[in-house]
Amino acid sequence: MTDIHAQRILILDFGSQFTQLIARRVREAGVYCEIYACDVDVAHIKSFKPDGIILSGGPESVTASTRYPLPDVIFEFAVPVLGICYGMQLLANYFGAEVASADHSEFGYATVRARGHSMLLKDIQDHINDEGHGLLDVWMSHGDRVESLPDGFKLIASTDNAPIAGFANEERNIYALQFHVEVTHTRQGAAIIHRFVRDICRCEANWQPKSIASDCIAKARQQIGDANVLLGLSGGVDSSVVAALLHQAIGTQLTCVFVDTGLLRHQEGDQVMATFSESLGVRVIRVNAEQEFLAALEGVDDPERKRKVIGGLFIDIFEREAAKITDVRFLAQGTIYPDVIESAGSATGKAHVIKSHHNVGGLPEHMKLELVEPLRELFKDEVRLVGRELGLPAEMVDRHPFPGPGLGVRILGEVRKDYADTLRLADHIFIEELRRHDLYNKVSQAFAVFLPVKSVGVTGDGRRYAHVICLRCVETTDFMTAIWSRLPEDFLDLVSRRIINELDSVSRVVYDISGKPPATIEWE
Ligand code: XMP
Repeated sequence: MTDIHAQRILILDFGSQFTQLIARRVREAGVYCEIYACDVDVAHIKSFKPDGIILSGGPESVTASTRYPLPDVIFEFAVPVLGICYGMQLLANYFGAEVASADHSEFGYATVRARGHSMLLKDIQDHINDEGHGLLDVWMSHGDRVESLPDGFKLIASTDNAPIAGFANEERNIYALQFHVEVTHTRQGAAIIHRFVRDICRCEANWQPKSIASDCIAKARQQIGDANVLLGLSGGVDSSVVAALLHQAIGTQLTCVFVDTGLLRHQEGDQVMATFSESLGVRVIRVNAEQEFLAALEGVDDPERKRKVIGGLFIDIFEREAAKITDVRFLAQGTIYPDVIESAGSATGKAHVIKSHHNVGGLPEHMKLELVEPLRELFKDEVRLVGRELGLPAEMVDRHPFPGPGLGVRILGEVRKDYADTLRLADHIFIEELRRHDLYNKVSQAFAVFLPVKSVGVTGDGRRYAHVICLRCVETTDFMTAIWSRLPEDFLDLVSRRIINELDSVSRVVYDISGKPPATIEWE
């Protein structure tokens, strides 16, 4: 079996908001990589043994007293190094060139002229100008700029605003670019990262869905041996892929507990059972707990309180069911790489709690189970690819994210069964039309929200005094920031008419035009 981790790129994170995108582009080029914080212990970097190193951008300035200087260790491996944005300024500073905190800050599109026929940019271009020079459309976002070339380095890119927009020492394979190759606005960004990791670092494209799936299965099998494993299956992408993967790895040693909270989407519970229990033959225990959840939520209207009630009850029910299964040693969880990075980052304790997220599978320590986390190394898009590889239906693996508390946070205020039933149907109409109009996969997340206020409507000759449904649809790459989707007016009109015509309990449909920030994606 190919060792998918044998060749690897290290990404040192200096705090850029785009660092995860660098990792995703490297992996899309077929090469394994990991992100380490820029102040990570040198021993970690040494034991990682990278075949190439990428230095991310970051909010700091090398002209101030640099808080996180470039660690010397990165040059000890004699492997190629690529500095991006702040990473370039760090390299410039390290090699003795001048970096000025200038009035030349640049945010947005720029045209870069490639120079010096570098291995990094050779034959990669968007346009050719009248003099025959290759030009690239790129995304810039920097305050400082490099004012002189370090000794031994040559110029490889320039813009009108930043005459030194890239430099290289090709004997030592050290490259630096001022623009952000990792963002999709830089049209040739993926090609440049591909060039760096595949041609300059000479890594092979071993990181492929099929091999990733086999690797995850083999590792899980090795970790679990002949023990039994419990998994909280939610129907979401991550736990579904874990279920499919562990089913292949350990078959009947896996038992899934699927708690139907009554706060799931239209027919979701039946679909989960059809996919896992009926088609794949996974052992799934379905717990119909709608009554318990509705009872626990009666009279509760505060969003945080609702989240706590739902999360707490979920754990109680899960534990109660788990206690019926004897001889379990492991608990499987759908932790993915961004969770790993985030919990390393949030260890600093600086982040504010905006919402207490509840994830199916986040269970109390006293259960004394060891963890199996087969997706720990994967980004969400890789989880999806692996899911497809394992034969899960596209509608399941490409599904938009759904919060742990489910419709509980999409019914504002008190949760009631009639509200949940109305919301489920309205949401289903919205999603069905998005799919029918080929829009579902073009947006990041879409759903309906139930607003428990009444408004007057007129249907035929009658008056309808009923509730309001809000449609929410956003586009985002990381769910940290988002813009509202500019859905076609005719499409919104159709969805609105269908919802009001088909549901007597709705008199009005509105569309949410708030971005994140300042709003959040969910309403509660
Ligand atoms: P917000 O509303 O914070 O949501 O902008 C960002 C993303 O997170 C999802 N979300 C959750 N996911 N448990 C989850 O697993 C939760 O409690 C939760 N709350 C929000 C939300 O759907 C969006 O994709």
